[in-house]
Amino acid sequence: MVESHIQAAIYCSKTFVLQLRVRSGGHDYEGLSFVADSPFLMLDMTHFRQIDVNIEENSAWFQAGAILGELYYKIAEKSKIHGFSAGLCPTIGVGGHFSGGGFGPMVRKYGGRILTRASMGENLFWAIRGGGGASFGVIIAYKINLVPVPPTVSVFSVSKTLEQGASKVLYRYQEVVDKFHEDLFIRVSILPTTNQSGNKTILVAFNSLFLGSAKDHLSLIQTNFLELGVQSKDCKEMSWIQSVLFFAGYTNGESIDTLLDRTPQFKGYFKAKSDFVQAPIPESGLEGLWKILLEGDTSLMFFLPFGGKMNEIPESAIPFPHRKGNIYNIQYVARWTEQENPQAEKHIAWIRNLYDYMAPYVSKNPRASYLNYRDLDLGQNGNTKRSYSQALVWGFKYFKNNFFQLVHLKTMVDPSNFFRNEQSIPPFKMEV
Ligand code: FDA
Repeated sequence: MVESHIQAAIYCSKTFVLQLRVRSGGHDYEGLSFVADSPFLMLDMTHFRQIDVNIEENSAWFQAGAILGELYYKIAEKSKIHGFSAGLCPTIGVGGHFSGGGFGPMVRKYGGRILTRASMGENLFWAIRGGGGASFGVIIAYKINLVPVPPTVSVFSVSKTLEQGASKVLYRYQEVVDKFHEDLFIRVSILPTTNQSGNKTILVAFNSLFLGSAKDHLSLIQTNFLELGVQSKDCKEMSWIQSVLFFAGYTNGESIDTLLDRTPQFKGYFKAKSDFVQAPIPESGLEGLWKILLEGDTSLMFFLPFGGKMNEIPESAIPFPHRKGNIYNIQYVARWTEQENPQAEKHIAWIRNLYDYMAPYVSKNPRASYLNYRDLDLGQNGNTKRSYSQALVWGFKYFKNNFFQLVHLKTMVDPSNFFRNEQSIPPFKMEV
């Protein structure tokens, strides 16, 4: 596959009045890269996956169809002291991930950087780093700056159930996690489980990465977050690339070649939503949350901390605006199997109820959301002149004031709205 095939696909879909859907890794939460309710042509970028790492220049070019695992692998193949700050799941496609923002275990230290591309102009280049590439065209490749990582990093995973005081520890987590040194990252996963007495309970797992030694890792935790009860035996030293596997859930000594496998780890159905938290949720709020989570059979939540460099990057630096003032991002997930799919509505109703419950505890005006955790419940474009006002509803949640700049750019580069989906940026039209 060569670049001219992409041009031909665009030409062909214009000629036959078909929508164009671009798929890189296919991880869109609502399947917008491969599902549409009108006839469409799917441009599959899988074979556009070349990666060239240039250690002397501290950079890498990679094509949009590469997955994050391939990108991390190719960097580590060339150097043990270079890395890149992006998502945790190795099978995510870089095409969608980068164009929607993209954060992972080094977000507190590096925030995320991509090099400029003079030929398309600064404005459009701004838009495709967080504004969703699908609204503006087809991204063929990105050039990124590598970031320094130490030859040895340290990780731990420590869990608490409700009986072991999870609520108090999680409350303390919220007080400290965005204030830690930027080399320290602790992500929380929350899921229902069964305790030793056979009763249902909640398990809160704390997974940590420190860009330094186990000794310094432990010392930071014991100074600032003693309540977690981490001991020296919990902290394990490894290379940065092995920590990528650790955060992807591979903890049994799997080879780093696992990162090259494009098969998604999770096969099944899910519906996800997201929030940003700006003040600690009180323990009484957490108690109510546990009740709802215990009702949802296969629910899952993640807290991903901000602070550090994220506090220094202005909201308008790229379209992704969720910076200073956010302690952490929440992702809610309801999962179900093929057999349970006839009851999909039950699971979707459950997660909507959970989202309603959380309203008092999360960001307001707007209640912000993360584009890469796409949620069509926030609103969808119509095919009418009302699209702009419809898009304002969800667009302001994803992009805050950057939405207006995205609309302005869209109006200039794609006034006929050729590149569109249910949540693409609409061109501005006077509404009568
Ligand atoms: P996909 O191919 O489905 O594309 C997503 C969107 O981007 C679609 O609108 C598509 O049309 C558009 N697009 C794709 N390629 C394009 C191109 N070349 N040019 C123009 N438009 C293009 N996020 C995160 O920040 N941190 C994380 O740790 C994780 N973890 C995670 C785990 C799992 C299991 C999943 C399923 C998802 C995540 N995500 C995430 C979310 C992820 O970043 C998000 O779903 C990305 O959009 C996925 O990009 P893909 O290319 O895989 O998706």
